[in-house]
Amino acid sequence: MLHLVSMKEWPPQLIEEVLDLADDMKRQPAKYAMAMAGKTLLMIFEKPSLRTRVSFETGVTQMGGHAIYYDMGTSPLGAGKENIADTARVISRYVNIVSARLFKHEVIVELAHHATIPVINALTDHAHPTQILADLQTIREKKGRLKGVKVAYCGDGHNNVTHSLMIGCSKLGLDIRVACPEGGDYTPAADVTRSATGFAKKAGSQVLITADAAEAVRGADVVYTDSWMSYHVAHEKLEERVRVFTPYQVSAALMAEAAPDAIFMNCLPALRGFEQTAEVMDGPQSVVFDEAENRLHAHKAILVRLLEDLKK
Ligand code: CP
Ligand code: NVA
Repeated sequence: MLHLVSMKEWPPQLIEEVLDLADDMKRQPAKYAMAMAGKTLLMIFEKPSLRTRVSFETGVTQMGGHAIYYDMGTSPLGAGKENIADTARVISRYVNIVSARLFKHEVIVELAHHATIPVINALTDHAHPTQILADLQTIREKKGRLKGVKVAYCGDGHNNVTHSLMIGCSKLGLDIRVACPEGGDYTPAADVTRSATGFAKKAGSQVLITADAAEAVRGADVVYTDSWMSYHVAHEKLEERVRVFTPYQVSAALMAEAAPDAIFMNCLPALRGFEQTAEVMDGPQSVVFDEAENRLHAHKAILVRLLEDLKK
């Protein structure tokens, strides 16, 4: 059973196949108007969402299927009355495919283990693979290629988006440089760095972790940042995190270190004046809303590819 729990398990050819499908869906949506006819997606959410929730639900509607939003807080699972294994077994009897946005990554791994339908990770504390598939689509659209593209990420390194970006880039031969403060709470998880370094070696690209934002951004084609206060981070951490991450804020001065035609990306939600200045977010190099749009196309491609795999 093919799932999308993290991109680590996906071979580069499968990632490319989904990107090609996403491009085709963007160009000719009518061709896929019945691609999910009679099919149901269950969307379990333990955390807030705008893009992931609305783009998945809209994508299913556009393909003739039905999507159910399921707030984990109102579930027996959330109430501590039912375990994840039984939840997985029950939903597998009703729906065709399930996405889940959860705190603990181990829970989605367990969901996939017990489900007999495809499972999509719609974000955990550890990984955000659907985001990065859409981001790779955006990068290819803007830069005309993926191989050899230099991506710089600045800010929170110990982060779901950062982790998936490292895996996605290294699998497809993009250089990925992460600039983040030193220390276990801020640098990428060691296993992700190890895996990404291995994938990059195979693909002929590079992975760099540095505490120096200018070093990461110098000559980059893509400058990427994400929230300093991810959904799972406690509000009490705000002051400390603003202090440690401020040297990594993407400002016009930092963007000037990148290639002159560099694009600026943020998965959103974004706070102007935090991880990037308003000038960068609203400036001519920013592609953040095209990036958000591609969530729709990429998610449709993920759904169709995972459902198609069942027929094999
Ligand atoms: N980028 C992203 O996943 O956004 P949401 O949290 O709004 O879904
Ligand atoms: N790192 C962010 C991504 C939001 C889409 C978070 O987990 O909140």
